[in-house]
Amino acid sequence: MISPIVTVPASGAQDTASLVEALEGGAVLLFPDLDFPFSPFEERFVERPFADGKAKNVNIRGEAAELKGAAGTPEEQEALRQLLIRYRRFAQGLIDRHLPAYTGKVTLAGTSYRPFDVDQRKLSWRRDDTRLHVDAFPSNPIGQKRILRIFRNINPSGQPRLWRVGEDFGAMAEKFLPRLPGYSPLSASLLAALRITKAKRSEYDHLMLHLHDALKQDMGYQGSAPQADVRFEPGQTWVTFSDLVMHGAMGGRYMLEQTAYLPVAAQVRPETSPHAILAQKLGRPLRQA
Ligand code: SIN
Ligand code: FE
Repeated sequence: MISPIVTVPASGAQDTASLVEALEGGAVLLFPDLDFPFSPFEERFVERPFADGKAKNVNIRGEAAELKGAAGTPEEQEALRQLLIRYRRFAQGLIDRHLPAYTGKVTLAGTSYRPFDVDQRKLSWRRDDTRLHVDAFPSNPIGQKRILRIFRNINPSGQPRLWRVGEDFGAMAEKFLPRLPGYSPLSASLLAALRITKAKRSEYDHLMLHLHDALKQDMGYQGSAPQADVRFEPGQTWVTFSDLVMHGAMGGRYMLEQTAYLPVAAQVRPETSPHAILAQKLGRPLRQA
């Protein structure tokens, strides 16, 4: 089954329970008409990239919301920072209104401004997000948490963000799990001791990283796997568990993105988590860090 796109109009009665169920089941929730206006000063951020070009994108992190990777005058950089802080609030508001089951349970992590064209960046296969993949963080073990992402296309000239979405996680995992190297607690401890990872990788982190890499390296799978093209138009917002939903970004520029973490235990149906699916496919619990 290919990940469904579920459209959620801003007005009208909301069945938030069925939204959460769809989201946890691997859907992309598409909000076509949420407001996030730019001030006249902010319009410049979609006219050219205010990025130093060294990192993949510009972001803020933590309570202090320190801005990383930006370019521009101090005034412009402060305005960009404020824009990202406002987007973080917007994402929190979306969760509170449309996914109230997660209110008080999600933690908001990084907020990013992505001004570059997806196509034009020459990246290594591992960083090439045009290839279908699930998200996994090499240096930042996620453990018993989920990655929930809130995206918004802020392109000023009508250019859509183009994605591909793939088959459901379980079907993908069945094909790839047998090829993955086994988890070694000793190597995981070593990586943490050497500060290559910020904490010790669990078996789940290990499997997700190797899935991410195996998927991106398998060009046969990339071409022939079940998949569908999706267009996210300017002004649209979409939300998905990017650790569960197979996705690739094929084109577009100027996007905002908020990452949120949700403990698996805080899900309405924890049994739909990639953690639980992997354990079920292996026929045993995953080893903890
Ligand atoms: C990704 O998470 O793979 C990238 C999404 C995007 O840039 O649209
Ligand atoms: Fe991704």
